[in-house]
Amino acid sequence: RTARDLDGRRIVISAGGTREPIDPVRFIGNRSSGRQGVALAEAAKQRGADVLLVAANLEIEVPAGIESFTVTTTAQLREAMLERAASADVVIMAAAVADYRPEDVSDTKMKKEADGGPVTLRLVQNPDILTELGHADRRARVLVGFAAETTSDEAELIRLAAEKRERKGCDLIAVNRVDGGRGFGAADNEVRLIDANGPLGAAVAGSKSDVAHAILDAARDLLRGRD
Ligand code: C5P
Repeated sequence: RTARDLDGRRIVISAGGTREPIDPVRFIGNRSSGRQGVALAEAAKQRGADVLLVAANLEIEVPAGIESFTVTTTAQLREAMLERAASADVVIMAAAVADYRPEDVSDTKMKKEADGGPVTLRLVQNPDILTELGHADRRARVLVGFAAETTSDEAELIRLAAEKRERKGCDLIAVNRVDGGRGFGAADNEVRLIDANGPLGAAVAGSKSDVAHAILDAARDLLRGRD
């Protein structure tokens, strides 16, 4: 790869995981640390891109020199992405988005039931941001999604991811296995990249930076094909 092969490209990357409030002190969240998204932002910046990191509850600091916009909930992430995606060359949805949110958010801290009984939390589905971005009229030129699957069958993993790519309308999908402590929060990652023609080469295993560069290589190639 040439050092500045993304010179001037506008790249928007979401990272971390969204949180849905239950009451003023509680939320429903997920285990995404934001490391892979941050690694993507750093790698894209190194390669000359104009990067915006949309950061949802990161466990790590945003590196110095990376422009960022902070969000908490899925609704905020959605608004930020819809606003910025249309004018981007590449959009990468690396954030883990909560599929559901509490239907009602209590204004006051919920009290424990005095009789020791259970409580019921009713959840409603969140919109799928990647699907909206993939099917929008004004679309990012290259849209990249992630898929985390727990299957240990390689062929099944690829089949599920290829189907997800198609359904969500993204150009490229990075799929990783998340069983056995892999993926979430870890320093290393192993992904397969799949575009409209199927898997791109073998699995990419390495640091989250190595994986980031491999994803950007694929995004760059797709962009070049559209210039
Ligand atoms: O369907 P699944 O959660 O496996 O899809 C993962 C991909 O879809 C990720 O790129 C994630 O950022 C995106 N996603 C989204 N909005 C949702 C759920 C997932 O954009 N509500």
